[in-house]
Amino acid sequence: MLERLTAQPADALLALIKLYADDPSPDKIDLGVGVYRTGQGDTPVFQAIKRAEKKLVDTQDTKAYLGPEGDMGFVHALKPYIFGEKDPTLGGRVQGMQTPGGTGAVRLAVALAQRAGVDRLFIGTPSWPNHGQILGDIALETVGFPHANADGTANVAALLDVINNAGPSDAVLLHGACHNPTGVDYTNAEWDAIADAIAAKGVFPIIDSAYQGLGNGMEEDAYGLRRVLSAVPEAFVAYSCDKTLAFIVTVWAHFMQWRASQKAWTRYSPTPMLWRGPVGPCRPIMAGQLYG
Ligand SMILES: Cc1ncc(COP(=O)(O)O)c(C=O)c1O
Repeated sequence: MLERLTAQPADALLALIKLYADDPSPDKIDLGVGVYRTGQGDTPVFQAIKRAEKKLVDTQDTKAYLGPEGDMGFVHALKPYIFGEKDPTLGGRVQGMQTPGGTGAVRLAVALAQRAGVDRLFIGTPSWPNHGQILGDIALETVGFPHANADGTANVAALLDVINNAGPSDAVLLHGACHNPTGVDYTNAEWDAIADAIAAKGVFPIIDSAYQGLGNGMEEDAYGLRRVLSAVPEAFVAYSCDKTLAFIVTVWAHFMQWRASQKAWTRYSPTPMLWRGPVGPCRPIMAGQLYG
């Protein structure tokens, strides 16, 4: 049976990390993974993380399973950062849960969108390589459009063109800020136009936010995400803290916004689509304390 499986191509990024580690050159620069680095090229453990880890060790009173949604305290604590302090639950319409990484959140969002009736997804190219792998694995028809112009600006015309020719069974996957790999983001005025076009055409937005705060600031980098959410009745947001907290393999949340408040979530909870291991709870709690 298992011999029918074919070998997967090696992960180019992980191979690059190893090449970088093995390279003795004193002038080497690692442009592979977009995490926080000091001038010396290190990714230190932040003092805040150290303190949260210590607090966790001192105060944690169980390592029993969390519920299937993960640490909901952490999920709730993240909401003001993502959706804004003024109305962090968007009038009670935000539902969230933890997933295995921002990667898992993107995968779950796309799979759920497909299950809800999306049959085509638009994605700017190039994109974070895992997007392609996730979409290929889910077998959702994917249509690319050029994300950036040669002069370093975003090709918003290409995005608006696909949206304006799309409809309610289509979804579009957008990067929240610090587009990976181009680093080319939409301006606020462009986000306004994108949000309005998405709303006018009924296209379903999936927003992948993995770098909030690493561009122009926490609030500034949230503009596009919040502007789109303010224009549409429902959307998925995949949110990762792995870069912002320099906290790899740790904390994630996947947020969803539903048209009819929480009813749809109750009717169709996505938690059975996730596996959650017994040691999972400890790491997110640390970040929950950090945010708290
Ligand atoms: C655009 C984008 N989305 C999602 C992720 C996934 O983040 P995580 O490391 O939490 O799985 C990354 C990580 O590189 C990314 O660049």
